[in-house]
Amino acid sequence: MNTAPAHAYPQMTEQATRILEQNTRSGDSGRYTVPTDKLYPFQWNWDSCLTALGFAGFDEPRAWEEIRTLFAHQWENGMVPHIVFHQNSDSYFPGPNVWQTGRSPVATSGISQPPVAASCVRLIYEQSQDRKQARAEIRALLPKLFAYHRWYLTERDPDGTGLAETWHPWETGRDNSAEWEEALFRVSTDNLEPYHRRDTDLVDAAQRPPKKEYDHYLALVQLFRENNYDHQTLRPVLPFRIADVGINAILLRANRDLLWLMQVVEQHENEETVQNWVTLQTEAFEKLWCAEKQAYCSYDLIAEKQIDMVTSGSFLPLFAHAVPKDKLPLLLETMDSLTSHADFLVPSLSPEEPDFDRLRYWRGPVWAIVNFMIAKGLESYGEEDRATRIGTDTATLLKSHGFYEYFDPIDGTGLGGDSFTWTAAMWLYWAQHYA
Ligand code: GLC
Repeated sequence: MNTAPAHAYPQMTEQATRILEQNTRSGDSGRYTVPTDKLYPFQWNWDSCLTALGFAGFDEPRAWEEIRTLFAHQWENGMVPHIVFHQNSDSYFPGPNVWQTGRSPVATSGISQPPVAASCVRLIYEQSQDRKQARAEIRALLPKLFAYHRWYLTERDPDGTGLAETWHPWETGRDNSAEWEEALFRVSTDNLEPYHRRDTDLVDAAQRPPKKEYDHYLALVQLFRENNYDHQTLRPVLPFRIADVGINAILLRANRDLLWLMQVVEQHENEETVQNWVTLQTEAFEKLWCAEKQAYCSYDLIAEKQIDMVTSGSFLPLFAHAVPKDKLPLLLETMDSLTSHADFLVPSLSPEEPDFDRLRYWRGPVWAIVNFMIAKGLESYGEEDRATRIGTDTATLLKSHGFYEYFDPIDGTGLGGDSFTWTAAMWLYWAQHYA
């Protein structure tokens, strides 16, 4: 990390802090943040974990509370839902009455999101001032984190391949990525119930997914619901089963961090299981390497083929430290080639891919949180210059355009929601050091 003084831009830091505070809400189980007012009025799984990093620098107890609140809504099978619907809101669709997961008193969705929690817990601990509280929090969270990872590596990998399956594009966090399109269109919309989406009331439709995709997203939710979210009945009938490079990279890193956390609080009982997962997952990553693209790509488990597109997810295996020596220079070369088409790294879809769209979400724009994870990964390989390039790009985007949800990789325009929580958190925790 470079050494620019923290708080070099006091107004930015103040504004980012205010965004975290203004987007804070109170639920029965504790406080949490919404990703942004109106557009996303509930608690989102990976948003909260990454946002906790932002709190950690100025209010450690609040950082822990954010994660605790999320895990209070973990399912009995270990899944941590992608949305917790703490309060009613009409400004978001699909709400609890569409999901109908039967969770009470607080409703949740029925799918998960990238399991970045354990890695965030480790990062919060590493810079914590109050080690006593930090250890107590870790002790309480460990069994929950373990159950969450076990859910991914058993229910979502019943054959023990080392690659967790993703059953809905929204689960990947890169919701509208072109990677999912072919598999998504296998989902029949014949019995789709009528609906009214709300996102395009709030954000320019050119920056959101088109209707044809939305229909398939909802048809897939309907299929989950019709099968009562039961993994055993669902899996054989699902037309959408993907090994997402992003989830698998984040899960592998999370398992390494879980082992690390076990050492910190000297709780060793599940250590061997997690160690075995790490070994299995590391080997399984080989299957996601696409030689033709010189990058890691997601895998369509139904069509049994690689989804050969270079996306920002292609670089997340760096975050997992899963890139072997022979592949590292090739992957870095691919990353460098992005700079001939985009001024700002890392575009969510390579501008060389035919589906590239600089405005539409996950089809080109840059996300600060993905940049953070890729930069962290680069640092772990001693690739300081490239990590700095990504940090500097992120800081420039935020300074010049504000705390937007995502940014045009060509001219930097801020897109999607404004006053966005995890973007502000990334400034506080990371990007300000590159300003
Ligand atoms: C969008 C993003 C997802 C994020 C959510 C809330 O759905 O694709 O990754 O968690 O917004 O910010």
